[in-house]
Amino acid sequence: MSIRLDYTNMMSPPIDGGITDAEWRDVGARFAEAHAEVERERASGALGFFDLPDDNALHRQTLDFVQRARSRSGADALSDVVVLGIGGSALGPIALRTALRPPQWNLLDDAAREGQPRLHVLDNVDPANISALLARLDLRRSLFVVISKSGGTAETMAQYLVIRARLNGALGDAGARERLVLVTDPQKGALRAIARAEGIAALEIPANVGGRFSVLTPVGVLPAALIGVDTGALLAGAADMRDRCASNELSSNVAGAWAALQYLADTKHGRHVQVLMPYSDALRDMAAWYVQLWAESLGKHRTAGDAGVGPTPLGALGATDQHSQVQLFMEGPGDKTVTFIGVTDREGDVEIPRLHADIPELAYLGGHRLGELLDIERRATAGALARRGRPNMTLTLDRVDPFHLGALFMFLELATAYAGRLYGVNAFDQPGVELGKQFTYAMLGRADADAARREWDLLPKPDPKRIL
Ligand code: PA5
Repeated sequence: MSIRLDYTNMMSPPIDGGITDAEWRDVGARFAEAHAEVERERASGALGFFDLPDDNALHRQTLDFVQRARSRSGADALSDVVVLGIGGSALGPIALRTALRPPQWNLLDDAAREGQPRLHVLDNVDPANISALLARLDLRRSLFVVISKSGGTAETMAQYLVIRARLNGALGDAGARERLVLVTDPQKGALRAIARAEGIAALEIPANVGGRFSVLTPVGVLPAALIGVDTGALLAGAADMRDRCASNELSSNVAGAWAALQYLADTKHGRHVQVLMPYSDALRDMAAWYVQLWAESLGKHRTAGDAGVGPTPLGALGATDQHSQVQLFMEGPGDKTVTFIGVTDREGDVEIPRLHADIPELAYLGGHRLGELLDIERRATAGALARRGRPNMTLTLDRVDPFHLGALFMFLELATAYAGRLYGVNAFDQPGVELGKQFTYAMLGRADADAARREWDLLPKPDPKRIL
């Protein structure tokens, strides 16, 4: 079994004020309905993320492109891949690199990377970061992967324009085109139009897959394959998890069970903040990926103008955040759940030497392993939280590898789809980000933003009395 969930510490007993057996029984019926609704949507063709693990044609196209890119040789041999994207178009590639390549991948020399390229992800438009990267890249040996489902996101288009001008200037138009690949909707958007007009290589994000559910499309699979990740195993792990979650019974649907626990904790027990805390540096960026998925999918109005629903996701890292956030989790407001992620087999575990045997603060550590210390600290923190009546649960992965990562991505995507139904919101849209985008367009003078400009002009202006 690829991922196990232990939710003992969510329930009452042992947790005072935890989820009761009666609530758990009741939510089972509600979950069966949510599951049926998700299955209906899937059957209608709206939820493309379910079928990505079986899309061999898309995977093959991606791997063919990778083969071509990696066959570049001599002064053109590929040394650096740069992803341009934001939100769901960037967080997946970052999580995959951190989890599935050795630590500090981009700092390793060519031999240690076994000739695979470095992977940079520009997920913002902060000029300091972009300029610093451009200053040290060999453009001739780089590949720029421009990722945008809509094909028109302001930040990604701005990045593209900056990079395109640099490429054109350094390598000419033809040279620039050869160093670009556009990952976008099959039909719509500006990137698709550019790909068609200029014959630039392009890969598809299927029309029925939205940004934050797209990590198993070329959005995540292309960058991962370019740096040597076994993407077949990634997709196999996702398929395995999906098939394991076919049941409409909570006792045999692990993603459904996690979603239902979080839903009950939020709506019946005031646990509005939901922390994901892996005890593995390799999984630290999975927490950021989860935060976007859970926040953008579930933080919504049910009906226009209502107060809004949705848990607040928070990322943390064990053991590091035991020295930062855990004080808050233990004694701050009782408004949180914590989901720990443990890993059973850790590659290259290190024994702690038996030195300073005469100093009690050090002597007890000798002879244990660092991975063992990390796991013991996770169990100790879970126990301490439980002792204080703070609900928590633990996901355990056998190991961090492509198969288990694929399973974890699918687990969280399925849980999000189910949670959307439990909350009664559409987990697949994000209308709340639209107004800010429109105001941005208005201030930048975009031609179709007149209405937003008028709305912007009606907003209260900064009050000098309130500026210190
Ligand atoms: O999940 C989403 O839909 C968003 O977070 C998008 O990924 C993000 O806004 C970027 O959009 P796009 O991929 O269209 O550039």
